[in-house]
Amino acid sequence: MIVLGIETSCDETSAAIVKDGLLLSNITNTQVIHSEFGGVVPEIASRNHEENIQAIVESALQKANIKLTEINAIAVTYGPGLLGTLLVGLNYAKGLAIGLNIPFIGVNHMEGHLFANLLDNPEFNYPFLCLLVSGGHTQIWEVRRYGSYHRIANTRDDAAGEAFDKGARVMGLGYPGGPQIEKNAVGGDPSAFPFTIPRIKDSEMDFSFSGLKTAILYTCNKMSKSDVESNLQDLCSSYQEVIIDTLIDRISKAIQKTGIRRISVAGGVAANKRFRQKVNEILKPNEIEVSFPRMEFCTDNAAMIAIAGFERIKNGESSPLNLKAMPNLALDEVGRV
Ligand code: KG4
Ligand code: ZN
Repeated sequence: MIVLGIETSCDETSAAIVKDGLLLSNITNTQVIHSEFGGVVPEIASRNHEENIQAIVESALQKANIKLTEINAIAVTYGPGLLGTLLVGLNYAKGLAIGLNIPFIGVNHMEGHLFANLLDNPEFNYPFLCLLVSGGHTQIWEVRRYGSYHRIANTRDDAAGEAFDKGARVMGLGYPGGPQIEKNAVGGDPSAFPFTIPRIKDSEMDFSFSGLKTAILYTCNKMSKSDVESNLQDLCSSYQEVIIDTLIDRISKAIQKTGIRRISVAGGVAANKRFRQKVNEILKPNEIEVSFPRMEFCTDNAAMIAIAGFERIKNGESSPLNLKAMPNLALDEVGRV
């Protein structure tokens, strides 16, 4: 069975081909235009998807050496995400499904992220914990088996990626902030500025990053612009370190709480080399199996949507043509989407 996957929930236009559960191609265009605005502008993102989607699908087919008429089903993200951008992918998928007279299935974007590591690592056994760290989410999921998910930690305010983005803005760096902070942190002293791991009174598992954003703002406000510039390495290194330490602290607690010793990490923040290095240093010696999907599968991509859709279609599921885009779609406790 050949499945075409489509993803347009935010600022990545992506298409992928999966044949019998194996990935043949994954083509992603990240819209760079948003960097000049310091964040994703929904209207611009929708228009950009509209302009690119056809070419992206064509190159995914071409790379997989598959003809359009050979596709058996289409899997498409229908939430969560930006309404306008979701609609571009969803309506494109519906039109194509009607034209080719094949079924289509709406996929929960979060479910896709949970399965991204299986693309590279099909032997990864259940149950596992998935730490999802992106610009919009900071969550830990317990994945018991396909279709059974339990969220055990969430952010109360900003996501980890947002903390990088907002911190970068305060320090006068560009967007997206994570790569900028990582670059400037090289050679800096991670303990130069005493940022502390945020605690939440009623939960030892949940995340909160808004306090850190305030801490970097106060720190920089007390310094002159040239002081900030001359201390940039140490500032970036200390700020990056406390975000990473917070993530490692919570994942360690999740391991203790659940007894599950297999972890997959997904989302844009997983690109951070210092984070990968620390996770490997701290968790691996304790016989915890850690899987970082390839970067193209960590950030938003259609491969994870195609693979999750393939599993659902294999189960005999499909979606009605009146399926709505759902910006706030949740993966509920028992994992029904
Ligand atoms: O998963 P993603 O590409 O998009 C969504 O949010 O859906 O994640 C983007 C986030 C941004 O906030 C960006 O600053 C962060 O991931 N990020 C990083 C790095 N690369 C991207 N954060 C830390 N270090 C990085 N190298
Ligand atoms: Zn995502």
